[in-house]
Amino acid sequence: MPIASHAFSLPSVPKCNHEGKKERANMTLTFDRYKDRLQMLSKGKGWITGNLYMYQGFWHQSMRRISIETVMALQETFKAHPKDIYLVTLPKSGTTWLKALMFAIVNRNRYKNNSLSTHPLLISNPHDCLPFIETEIYRNTPTYVHENEPRLFATHIPYNSLPQSILESGCRLIYLCRNPKDVLVSMFHFANKLRDKSGGTMMAFEEAFESFSKGVMPLGPYWDHVKGYHEVSLEDPRKVLFVTYEDMKMDTVNHVKRLAKFVGYPFTEKEEVEGVVQEIIRLCSFENLSEVNKHGNLRDGIPNNVFFRKGEVGDWANHLTDEMSQNLDRITKEKFHGLDISFNQG
Ligand code: A3P
Repeated sequence: MPIASHAFSLPSVPKCNHEGKKERANMTLTFDRYKDRLQMLSKGKGWITGNLYMYQGFWHQSMRRISIETVMALQETFKAHPKDIYLVTLPKSGTTWLKALMFAIVNRNRYKNNSLSTHPLLISNPHDCLPFIETEIYRNTPTYVHENEPRLFATHIPYNSLPQSILESGCRLIYLCRNPKDVLVSMFHFANKLRDKSGGTMMAFEEAFESFSKGVMPLGPYWDHVKGYHEVSLEDPRKVLFVTYEDMKMDTVNHVKRLAKFVGYPFTEKEEVEGVVQEIIRLCSFENLSEVNKHGNLRDGIPNNVFFRKGEVGDWANHLTDEMSQNLDRITKEKFHGLDISFNQG
């Protein structure tokens, strides 16, 4: 199921049922194709529903849009292009914000002359503007792909499980990483909102903490995911740009410029003088995006607003006891020993 590349489609949700039906049929076929392989894998308890499966050193959900079956299908069929740009994150590390910023940066001339209210980020969720390869694989109409321009995709796939063609194509990757304690808190709230929506029981914070500390969360262990990309960013800084949520929050202007330069869309002096960088930051701010996404759902039924909670650095302090915090600090220190990875506390 290669993702078509030379087409252009308008944003978001498949408007007709026909598209949605095809997409769901593709997913069912894929889940079915790999179900036997899942039987052989170790299982852990899922955060949202069902089990997690250990595959190539990481925990994955099954039978969901972002799932182990999709990773297997992508590994077999996905074709990257040298000009592609991939935004890589662990869930709850600021994916939605990075998607919005990169979409706004790369497409800034395309929407320049439009009235502001028609900018895609003012009418749809960043996840609909810039899709995950894990979800795009099931679609027949690619989202926002423009002929002869880089394809912008996101993914949560760990480095060692990326489709071979992404590794070989020479394309660029941006990795956004966040303080593990804030990832834990954000994931805990996200999982409970989705459990609540499907009528499930709430997860206690202690349980979330235990699982996270053992590395058992979707796409975890957290530390291994981060280390995989950090290592490549040191070996080949032109391939992987490694940034943290905390640094982006602290100095958004310089980070937006850095992101733009890395993907070959640097701001001109004129643009800087005209305040284009600040305009993009405003458009993608938590305040603006959370207002735009107050209502409605993504096409898989997930409410738009679950991706916007507080958008702050350090909310972990309101959830973790001193003992929990020290435990996670100890694990992080051990796992990141000798690596230059730290998180600004704002
Ligand atoms: P909190 O739960 O700590 O508030 P992801 O996009 O990877 O799912 O991550 C979600 C986290 O990013 C949530 O963190 C969410 O509030 C925050 N977030 C979403 N949009 C943001 C934005 N525009 N700026 C900063 N943070 C944002």
